[in-house]
Amino acid sequence: MKWSFSEKYKVSTAGDREEAIALVRKNEPAVITLDLGLPPDPGGASEGFAVLEEVLKIAPATKVIVITGNDTLDNAVRAVGMGAYDFYQKPVDPDMLSFVVERAFRLHELEEENRKLARMHINHPLDGVIASSPQMHEVCRLVEQLAPTDLSVLLLGESGTGKEVIARAIHHLSPRKDGPFVAINAAAIPENLLEAELFGYEKGAFTDAAKQTKGKIEIASGGTLFLDEIGDMPLNLQPKILRFLQERVIERIGGRRVIEVDVRVICATHQDIQRLIAEGLFRQDLLFRINEATIELPPLRERMGDVPVLARAFLHRYNQEMKRDLLDFSDTALAAMEQYEWPGNVRELQGRVKTAVALARGPKVEAKDLRLVATETGQRLKTLREARETAEREALVAALNEAGGKIAKAAEILAITRPTLYALLGKYGLKV
Ligand SMILES: Nc1ncnc2c1ncn2[C@@H]1O[C@H](COP(=O)(O)OP(=O)(O)OP(=O)(O)O)[C@@H](O)[C@H]1O
Ligand SMILES: [Mg+2]
Repeated sequence: MKWSFSEKYKVSTAGDREEAIALVRKNEPAVITLDLGLPPDPGGASEGFAVLEEVLKIAPATKVIVITGNDTLDNAVRAVGMGAYDFYQKPVDPDMLSFVVERAFRLHELEEENRKLARMHINHPLDGVIASSPQMHEVCRLVEQLAPTDLSVLLLGESGTGKEVIARAIHHLSPRKDGPFVAINAAAIPENLLEAELFGYEKGAFTDAAKQTKGKIEIASGGTLFLDEIGDMPLNLQPKILRFLQERVIERIGGRRVIEVDVRVICATHQDIQRLIAEGLFRQDLLFRINEATIELPPLRERMGDVPVLARAFLHRYNQEMKRDLLDFSDTALAAMEQYEWPGNVRELQGRVKTAVALARGPKVEAKDLRLVATETGQRLKTLREARETAEREALVAALNEAGGKIAKAAEILAITRPTLYALLGKYGLKV
């Protein structure tokens, strides 16, 4: 047996109970094959059972396969009842036995992985938020501080960094947690419908207004209103939002009644609000109102240690959802993930892991399953953001040169406003 297994596994052998237990203490092996007939009782099973009992006590994760004689099925059943993983009847056929052993190893590895994930729950600082980086722990601390207050919180961060996740976490930790959490995305709703969606309308307020309808703000009463993509709020609606925030009242479209609403407001945007203000697309006074507190979500590439933790959590989730049993990520896959820039942040990571779980051959997820293999030239492809930023910077420099350093002229060449140009110069650290 030693000879037939040692190609694939590290094998240790023991001839009696004492020797066996010493080895188990030392190595905590994943799998043990155990003959029940051991000296000084080679004809019986007492020593074998004694070993089994002790092994299960000192190394409960170890999978014990009991090897029995032909005539001792009772003992086999008893051993499994005590906690042995499986039994195998003599005579030993290495090929057959190796199936059982192989399965035992796989189960052991899976269970190990589960234990790792369970330990990782310390990485769930808030419900639904997976994080282990110091930056995200700081974010979670802020969430805990702000949740009990009624302050309007502005969430900033690139797309996919988890703004909505954090908005929900704030709601769930707040005294309003039993009230509704109502999200509305200003960028996803056509401008002409947004007002009705937010404020509601009375019957007959416009052609399609067949019956009185509450808006999202009213529906959120007693709970939290999440205004997503607030940077896309049309200018003509901004004064109305402002009034609602200042006076905590709304009027339905076509209504004459002022309705009091009790809602906590959380806003989010991936845009640079200061730039929008400079371009005249966002009202400064509205910013003051929505921004009683700010939480900035760092991009994933700047969070130390979050990538593997998130990736493993998503692997676990999709393994269960898709009934797969991928064990982990290979070392190359982990390295590739660490290297990658994640322009789509957590959402992209989640998507890549999901596809990988669906398609990977296993036993582990490889870099190619995540489609993170370097290109043939060995160069990493640019992300769209990087490509854009490089192009933007080049255009700025070219225009400034052409304009001889005159801001107004350069802005004209670039067809942008001067405030935007100043903002861009700041962004790229360029000086005229
Ligand atoms: N810390 C996290 N823990 C667990 N899941 C996360 C975390 N951050 C983000 N996610 C997941 O990533 C996806 C994107 O998150 P979310 O929708 O909150 O991002 P967002 O910042 O609102 O993005 P966008 O600006 O594009 O709307 C979601 O599926 C979310 O569940
Ligand atoms: Mg979002």
